Amino acid sequence: MALKLTRSELLHRQNLIGGKWVDASDSAHYPVINPATDEIVAKVANSGAADAHAATDAAEKAFPDWRDRLPRERAEILRRWHALIVQNTEDLATLMSMEQGKPLAESRGEVAYGASYVAWFADEATRIYGDIIPQQQRGKRMTAVKEPIGIVAAITPWNFPLAMIARKIAPALAAGCTVVAKPAEDTPLTALALAALAKEAGLPDGVLNMIAAARDEGIAAVADWLADDRVRKITFTGSTAVGKHLARESASTLKKLSLELGGNAPFIVFDDADLEAAVAGVMAAKFRNGGQTCVCPNRIYVQSSVYERFADMLSKRVGALKVAPASDTSAQIGPMINQRAIDKIARHVDDAVENGATVLVGGRRLTELGPNYYAPTVLTGANVNMLVCCEETFGPVAPLFRFEDEDEVIRLANDTPFGLAAYFYTRDVRRIERVGRRLEAGVIGVNEGAVASEAAPFGGVKESGYGREGSKYGLDDYLSIKYLCQGGLD
Ligand code: SIN
Repeated sequence: MALKLTRSELLHRQNLIGGKWVDASDSAHYPVINPATDEIVAKVANSGAADAHAATDAAEKAFPDWRDRLPRERAEILRRWHALIVQNTEDLATLMSMEQGKPLAESRGEVAYGASYVAWFADEATRIYGDIIPQQQRGKRMTAVKEPIGIVAAITPWNFPLAMIARKIAPALAAGCTVVAKPAEDTPLTALALAALAKEAGLPDGVLNMIAAARDEGIAAVADWLADDRVRKITFTGSTAVGKHLARESASTLKKLSLELGGNAPFIVFDDADLEAAVAGVMAAKFRNGGQTCVCPNRIYVQSSVYERFADMLSKRVGALKVAPASDTSAQIGPMINQRAIDKIARHVDDAVENGATVLVGGRRLTELGPNYYAPTVLTGANVNMLVCCEETFGPVAPLFRFEDEDEVIRLANDTPFGLAAYFYTRDVRRIERVGRRLEAGVIGVNEGAVASEAAPFGGVKESGYGREGSKYGLDDYLSIKYLCQGGLD
């Protein structure tokens, strides 16, 4: 089946600045590539510092009016945007599959997932309460009110081209902020279509501005935002190295940051676990988006007495996964995003094998399918000296580590600078309490592999970053608290 849009006008190649679709200031373009075939899907604006600056000018102009709208008015626009996203699910999913490669069923799921953040924050927009502080002195009234922080720059990754940008933009808009956004180099098309739908929903000109950029130009664009003191907040999802760079470079203007960075998630299977459920949990958490998520288990720890049985059960499920391009409706795993990703996966598997791991299933490139495919893989005999233990593989590779007892596995699980997600399976309620408390991660799946939800706070600890997305906490990062002390009241 060929991937085709019903509304071809949703394929935008230009930037959205101040409500207008415009080319990059120097008219440059770059190609967006379909990872299933390495063919060009479209050529889009290749924006740099001047375009980033123009986007900030537009966001600055639009801010006072958007800030002063009634929360109910902002919520109505977000609701219309949500309805349009849902109505255009097929086209958004198609665009996503074309530029990111994920199977259509997963792309449709991501549209629903991303849309759920827009609906959630439409509701939250009307619940931004302040406080009346209990009186401390006669004749004085003290209140705390929450105000939008100002212009927000959103910088998003390629692995969830719609959901990641929706869950940054929706709370920013709900809070009354205006936004400048740069989607990932590899996946600007879904994001630009999302911006087009926001415009269609009646979002005023300049409230959301979006620019596309290839790598070097994108760095220049972000540098412009970093240096511009009108941009009061940066929200970023991506690597820890880039997150640290943003933290350093935004120090001169003291911007507020939310950073959702890399992970190295442990997944622990205790010997009292329901093994069928634990296998299903690995399948859901590890193989979602072909293993290209920050929360997917990177290290799977299995207690010694159930190790062989678990490895056997898991390999049967993994070996049965259908790898195919998104255009094949039965595909469960698509191509990886690009050749760099494939090379990293192959390097991790080769290194594991050289250091004593055994490949139970997979363990090779699937060049017969196309340039960027890797077979879903299970490795046994994984150990601490392997790359799969200390680096995020970001691919469909499940390395199984053996452990003996609870203290040992907690120590191993926490022995990483990262702390985004962690998972564990056990039937012992006291162990659930103990292990849940001791694991160092911002998101923990307990007998559950599918943890994502718009209603839950998402974010990490340690070098996985700070700030939370989704839930009632997701608005806090876009608000500042103002204290008013009113005197002369006696
Ligand atoms: C991510 O991989 O960065 C996000 C995953 C999610 O939202 O579940």
